[in-house]
Amino acid sequence: MEASANRPFKLLGLSGSIRRGSNCIAVLRTLKESLPADVELEIFGLEDVPLYNEDEENDTPPAPVVALRRAITESDGLVIVSPEYNHGMSGVIKNALDWASRPSSGPPLVNKPVTVMTSASSILGGVRAQAQLNETLRGTFSRLPPGRQVVIGNAKQKIREGRLTDEPTRLFALNAIDSLLEEICMVQRRPPRLGPEEAARRAMAKAPR
Ligand SMILES: Cc1cc2nc3c(=O)[nH]c(=O)nc-3n(C[C@H](O)[C@H](O)[C@H](O)COP(=O)(O)O)c2cc1C
Repeated sequence: MEASANRPFKLLGLSGSIRRGSNCIAVLRTLKESLPADVELEIFGLEDVPLYNEDEENDTPPAPVVALRRAITESDGLVIVSPEYNHGMSGVIKNALDWASRPSSGPPLVNKPVTVMTSASSILGGVRAQAQLNETLRGTFSRLPPGRQVVIGNAKQKIREGRLTDEPTRLFALNAIDSLLEEICMVQRRPPRLGPEEAARRAMAKAPR
């Protein structure tokens, strides 16, 4: 994506769950609604992306894969929210990342800033899925901004009617988006962006715990 100080930041949201009523999608939806005017978040549904098959790495990959790769390329950064399934990331998100790590001639994930969040009904909030995602993303040469990891435990209490309603968690997640925007500015050599709201959140997040 081209660097320009004047255009809005374009973020792409990927949910590791394609479930109707997914809590991960609810988190993305809430972030989308919470972002300042100069930041857009498009949520890309992964339900049509087929299982990865290297036989299909040719000039005509499946249309949903072309769309996914294009959406990643045209974004400034990714926001991934995944559930934890059996102590790991969901197959849905791993599959999408495998497609996005190819073609080897120019994978869309290379140098792409990516923020990872996990959400689970258990108290641990998907920490093991989070660790796996970070490891996989390192293998794709994408860029993980520094900062605290967003793991949303007890998701059923914090997410209601399709929105992340727990305010401290919402602010914590927004702080991760601030770090993502900082990383994007560094990668694209854009001037740093820090409005008063973000500055206040940063100060809070950097306070010792
Ligand atoms: C097959 C399966 C395996 C699961 N394994 C775990 C797990 O290992 N750890 C955990 O915290 N939650 C686990 N869960 C609970 C999910 O994290 C929880 O259902 C989550 O909210 C699903 O995300 P969604 O609401 O976005 O669909 C599992 C759920 C399913 C369906």
